[in-house]
Amino acid sequence: MITSPAPCVIAIDGPAASGKSSVARALARRLGFAYVNSGAFYRVATACVLARGIDPTDADAVAAALGGAEVIAGLRAENGGESFLQLDGHAPTEEALRAAAVNAGVSAVASVPAVRALLTARLRALAEETAPASGFPGTVMEGRDIGSAVFPHTPFKFYIDASAEVRAQRRAAQGGGQDEIAARDRTDSTRRASPLLIAEDAHVIDSSRLTIDGVVGEIIGRLKLKGFAIAS
Ligand code: C5P
Repeated sequence: MITSPAPCVIAIDGPAASGKSSVARALARRLGFAYVNSGAFYRVATACVLARGIDPTDADAVAAALGGAEVIAGLRAENGGESFLQLDGHAPTEEALRAAAVNAGVSAVASVPAVRALLTARLRALAEETAPASGFPGTVMEGRDIGSAVFPHTPFKFYIDASAEVRAQRRAAQGGGQDEIAARDRTDSTRRASPLLIAEDAHVIDSSRLTIDGVVGEIIGRLKLKGFAIAS
């Protein structure tokens, strides 16, 4: 039983490799919520741009290419309610979304206002319409601007951080293509359109010395203080 305003969204933001995806997925499973990985959406957009031979730093070409794209977004019931996105029929594998070229281009693509507008509308629809229609009592959504721009009115905002060393270690352990996380963080934090920042009312957790369960436990403790009724 959960008491919260509708739609119930738990926003989890933070820099690259801070551990927020593992935490957000585990939290969603624990609560029986849908899980939306908004970073994957920006990665799909980037893979789509690259597949068309467009330079990710050419903002006008990126906006023109994605502006007319056919967008299909949803939640996979068979996968515990995890989000997916298809753009113009492109549904890259997890591995393809972690390729070096996507890592290198995604922050540029994500800084284009038209791309943010397109994806933000889809992210909102997932939590406001798709999740309730699919029987989920709420949504855990992770990214960079969920608490500050996508769902600024949700009372449940968390910002997960970790030291630069720990984040570099975590990313190396995850494999995938080369990923200059410091450069991505710099671009994400300094862009004009909804940059990565700590929302004023977000609860900040430094996950450097915590396990995934430890961070989930801290979030659940905080949610209970804010009026969430959580069964176990
Ligand atoms: O979370 P992940 O590291 O996969 O995100 C990839 C990139 O997507 C980020 O570096 C950022 O440029 C972009 N992003 C964003 N806004 C979000 C989520 C991700 O700009 N809400």
